[in-house]
Amino acid sequence: MPTDHANHYRFGYSRDEMERLENQHRVWAEDNRRFLARACFGEGATLVDLGCGPGYTTLDLARAVGPQGRVIAVDRDGERSLPLLKQRVEAAGFSNVETREADLEVFDLPEGSVDGVYGRWVLMYLPERAAEALTGRVARWLRPGGVCALAEFCNYRDIHIHPPSAHLPMIAQALMRAVAADRGCNPEIGNVLPGLLQRAGLHVELRVVTKAVRATTPEWRWPDAVFREHLPGLVDEGYLTREVLDAFFADWDERSREPDAVFFASPVMEVVGRRS
Ligand SMILES: C[S@@+](CC[C@H](N)C(=O)[O-])C[C@H]1O[C@@H](n2cnc3c(N)ncnc32)[C@H](O)[C@@H]1O
Repeated sequence: MPTDHANHYRFGYSRDEMERLENQHRVWAEDNRRFLARACFGEGATLVDLGCGPGYTTLDLARAVGPQGRVIAVDRDGERSLPLLKQRVEAAGFSNVETREADLEVFDLPEGSVDGVYGRWVLMYLPERAAEALTGRVARWLRPGGVCALAEFCNYRDIHIHPPSAHLPMIAQALMRAVAADRGCNPEIGNVLPGLLQRAGLHVELRVVTKAVRATTPEWRWPDAVFREHLPGLVDEGYLTREVLDAFFADWDERSREPDAVFFASPVMEVVGRRS
């Protein structure tokens, strides 16, 4: 399938974005391991990784299911993300990962054909109606006893810096409006995810995880890259004024040099849905 929708991923597929995703994965790696442990994806299982990107979790899933299992890694970006994933799969010596270049707005599988579905930070990039429809399909793909594990940001406006910046709430609003304006996507889809999976007939368990990173540590690079790489474009698109951006960056630069400064990220809603 051609990648004619590739530009619809809000943040694009540049080398910097691939690095940002890797760094983001590293910052959340421990939480992700705990999340996968809650889902209990076992050896020999057939799993789907929705919106796998360059596949930072795909390899963990491949390891969990072992040589008798299979991971179907789905992403619309066949130009950069899936080739990177294939390289990493080969380097790790796995033969149980199958990549599919597909648009999750229409991607489908036979009913009861998989044991598990994983997806993180992907439903927020689908129009909300399409994300709702996808959760219904995910529930149908699961065999009896199958499990899905979906993680998405919630309460995005809760991002915070200490010491506070009066400009950060405007930055959060601009980021949310930009994602929402992108074909009606919901940047806080984590808030509605438990209800969606419940209505799809799954037994739902939820947990919310938060993340705080300290300035002058390697983790600080994660929020720093989001702001530096993506905020200037929001000025060009009219979501933010140049004055607010400059005032925010003055605060951010000051916090970045201050070892006691802390950035509190948007919380993540981790939902495990089981089919009985
Ligand atoms: C923020 S990245 C997350 C990657 C990975 N899940 C992770 O946790 O690191 C979002 C990914 O979702 C993919 N994506 C967004 N909308 C999609 C769609 N409609 N169909 C398929 N993939 C999509 C993007 O191409 C991108 O690779």
